[in-house]
Amino acid sequence: MSTDSSSASATSSVEAALAYVDSHQRQFLDDLFGFLRIPSISTLPARRNDVRKAAAYLAKQMEEAGLKRVKVIKTAFHPLVYGEWLEAKGKPTVLLYGHYDVQPADPIELWTSDPFEPEVRDNNVYARGAVDDKGQTLSLVKGIEALMRAHGKLPVNVRLLIEGEEEAGGESIATYVREHPDELACDVAYIADTHMPAPGVPSLIYGLRGILYTEIEARGAKSDLHSGTFGGVAPNPIHALALVLAGLKGADGRITIPELYERLIPITEEERAMWKRSPIDMAALFKQEMGVDTLPGEQDVDLRERVGARPTLDVHGIRGGFVDEGAKTVIPAVAVAKVSLRLPPELPPAEVLPLLKKRVAELCPPGVTMTVREIHGGDGVHVPLDSVYVRAAERALEQEWGREPVFEREGGSIPIAALFDKVLHAAVVIMGTGLPDDNIHAPNEKYHLPNYYHGIRQTVRYFDILGQDPAVLARPSRMASAGARPANGAGGAKKPAAKKPAKTPGGRS
Ligand code: BES
Ligand code: MN
Ligand code: MN
Repeated sequence: MSTDSSSASATSSVEAALAYVDSHQRQFLDDLFGFLRIPSISTLPARRNDVRKAAAYLAKQMEEAGLKRVKVIKTAFHPLVYGEWLEAKGKPTVLLYGHYDVQPADPIELWTSDPFEPEVRDNNVYARGAVDDKGQTLSLVKGIEALMRAHGKLPVNVRLLIEGEEEAGGESIATYVREHPDELACDVAYIADTHMPAPGVPSLIYGLRGILYTEIEARGAKSDLHSGTFGGVAPNPIHALALVLAGLKGADGRITIPELYERLIPITEEERAMWKRSPIDMAALFKQEMGVDTLPGEQDVDLRERVGARPTLDVHGIRGGFVDEGAKTVIPAVAVAKVSLRLPPELPPAEVLPLLKKRVAELCPPGVTMTVREIHGGDGVHVPLDSVYVRAAERALEQEWGREPVFEREGGSIPIAALFDKVLHAAVVIMGTGLPDDNIHAPNEKYHLPNYYHGIRQTVRYFDILGQDPAVLARPSRMASAGARPANGAGGAKKPAAKKPAKTPGGRS
């Protein structure tokens, strides 16, 4: 993680863009407010129109920033928003990713202010989607706007691909990326949808866990039963489900599917040494964020590993039987549990699903049948730390924040990141500007305003460095200039991306 001494001078070429950011804070905030007022909740069918409105709003922002060929792309579900600027001949191409959809706002009564009427308190803007991910998405657009206004051009080529259903599984963008690899050809994908461990401490995320989200349905008798008449001989699907759920994870915090652990790639000594150098006390951070004083789970495993690199299993909800006020003596015919696993990149959800099904069948008591249905899934990613794009990002963060970033694996999932890697063969750089106490997916979500502006400025600096870093420019790139794709890469929609010849087993540095 050494610092290149030449990096300090790099900023001079974008001084005007950085000054533009500083002098346009008010306007950039107003534009964010407009975005946040649109309740683009992707999972609620009733909000479909608002999701469209947010797409249109974002497209307008992108056009005003100076991006070309801005379009709202229809999909089977919610639209994608695309824009590009490809006039930096010979420079690398950056694919920028974010999402404009948000989580539902409930429970509404726990919000201090209206989730869709943004309010600034203590230098934080409070609104659903403030940090996840409208604020971070807009910070990318504003970085481009500042460069275009101040310099009339960008130091790199860019493509933006912003989705509207990340919080609902992200099926549409996955399909789009698989079907249009040539139109998305890029050298590096820059994702702004994560957080840093503390204010003022920038972070580079070099790993994300994947996810397998399932529903387990348990069926017993052909209909609900009187528990007096049938109690003693009837199968009870809720109890059966409880046995299965309890059996899936031991008291030691390990999932009782041994194959999951046999396939894990051990953390290298180098990575552990890097963790040791981090100034962040993870145990204290987690205890504070959760308001608890014990951290259940695998006690013999490093905390960073537990939240970033180990498989985990959680139950999100159980439905069945009688849950209203009062009493009803019923043995239900059906019960359902929502169960998900977070999975490191070496455990693809498609391979884990059959293992889970087998284990559930083993644990299921007689008289009950269980079906495990996948709701959604996405692979994890691991980014080689020696990638030139990661090193360039490290320098951009150092310049912007005045200190070196921490390198972390993130336990949350951004499923499309794996496709940027596997389908587009892009290096993946994940550097978001959220904070651990931003309440994402919870009441009173916020975005720390200084981080919004830092996010914009770090984007400016990253582009600047990518545009002149000799290590980046010297790469044997298949995308050195826009439009200069090899003829075999310009095929039809269903054609897989052309294999990148320069990809070495050691990573993409
Ligand atoms: N931005 C989050 C991912 C994230 C979570 C990053 C925590 C950093 C810290 C993203 O919007 C998200 O919520 N992802 C879902 C993915 C799922 C719906 C496939 C997640 O992780 O639950
Ligand atoms: Mn997000
Ligand atoms: Mn989210």
